[in-house]
Amino acid sequence: MKVVSVVGARPQFIKAAPVSAELRKVADEYLVHTGQHYDEELSSTFFAELGIPEPDVNLGVGSGPHGQQTGRMLERLEVVLLAEKPDWVLVYGDTNSTLAGALGAAKLGLNLAHVEAGLRSFRRDMPEEVNRVLTDHLSDLLFCPTPRAVDNLAAEGITGGVLQVGDVMVDALEQVRPRLSAARAASLGAVPPYFAATLHRAENVDPPERLRAALEVLAAMPQPVFLPVHPRTAAALDRHGLTWPANVQALPPLGYLDMLSLVAHAEALLTDSGGLQKEAVLLGTKTLTLRDETEWVETLDGGMNSVVGLDPEAARAALESAIADPATGRLLFPPGAAAAIVAALRRPPSSSQQDPPSPPQESVPLDR
Ligand code: UD1
Repeated sequence: MKVVSVVGARPQFIKAAPVSAELRKVADEYLVHTGQHYDEELSSTFFAELGIPEPDVNLGVGSGPHGQQTGRMLERLEVVLLAEKPDWVLVYGDTNSTLAGALGAAKLGLNLAHVEAGLRSFRRDMPEEVNRVLTDHLSDLLFCPTPRAVDNLAAEGITGGVLQVGDVMVDALEQVRPRLSAARAASLGAVPPYFAATLHRAENVDPPERLRAALEVLAAMPQPVFLPVHPRTAAALDRHGLTWPANVQALPPLGYLDMLSLVAHAEALLTDSGGLQKEAVLLGTKTLTLRDETEWVETLDGGMNSVVGLDPEAARAALESAIADPATGRLLFPPGAAAAIVAALRRPPSSSQQDPPSPPQESVPLDR
């Protein structure tokens, strides 16, 4: 079996790591890096830390407006897909690299599989939502992390090829958990008590009034806030002539081990990242989500995550009740999603597509 895997942005490197490791035990993987993320701190650091094999090709698309970035990927990817003739094209998550991989495969009539299918924010003004919806509607195999993701697909009429396999980010995190430490966080200057934060969503940092509101939320925190700065956010601050509040310690973008160590030892995490909301639950750190909704609604169960938007009062109130709440982290799913994905890819496409969704998995207590 030959699989072309398409990755391009930071969260996709994390998701691909455990799947690629499983896949290479039984199949020939050809790894395509679109080049959407190209800074060392956003790209090669993750390959090194997670032991991901070198990409077979880097399409080198770089940054640009959505149409240009996605169009360049599609054009260059088509050449690769025609040459490689894979049995499967495997795409991850919801970035422009996901959409380009999906379109490239579908236009050539190749089998397409989507890891992290079925998530929805129900906001078509988010580029990620457009990428998710289109990719899901083109996919032959849809690997859902949660029962709710399966339901979201059914509501859009997608039932064939849908498999609930759990979350590959659990596999990725469990692989590195022994390497996380307070010493790593301290080496960044973060000695408890402190908060960790990230902010990079286009809808939060591009409009100046939203970015200003986000800075007010951070300024309302009663302890130092350690915040690795995404290049999009750094550029937006410059553009709008804004600066970080005095209690914010801006850091360069961090690798996976440093970031997870920072989160693991924080009083709480403030973030607009989807992946970090789950990682914080797994690490037992309470989260304030700086958005008006979350695709990962399961993290809201049990008091580990609160959606606070960009309202300092809501953030302060949520922080007080979060800290008072005795909830601890729960492993949302057992590890094993990567193996389930590879097993499904090995079945003939027609039999995979007729499989009913797997039964919902119970969340199991996390042994911390
Ligand atoms: C992308 C994804 C987003 C994901 C995020 C993770 C889309 C539509 N969005 O957003 O879902 O959460 O990745 O980080 O695909 N830049 C650099 N160096 C780089 C890459 C980008 O400086 O290596 C700068 C460029 O100025 C660029 C900006 O960051 O214009 C945004 O990069 P882009 O890849 O377009 O989107 P992200 O905000 O990273």
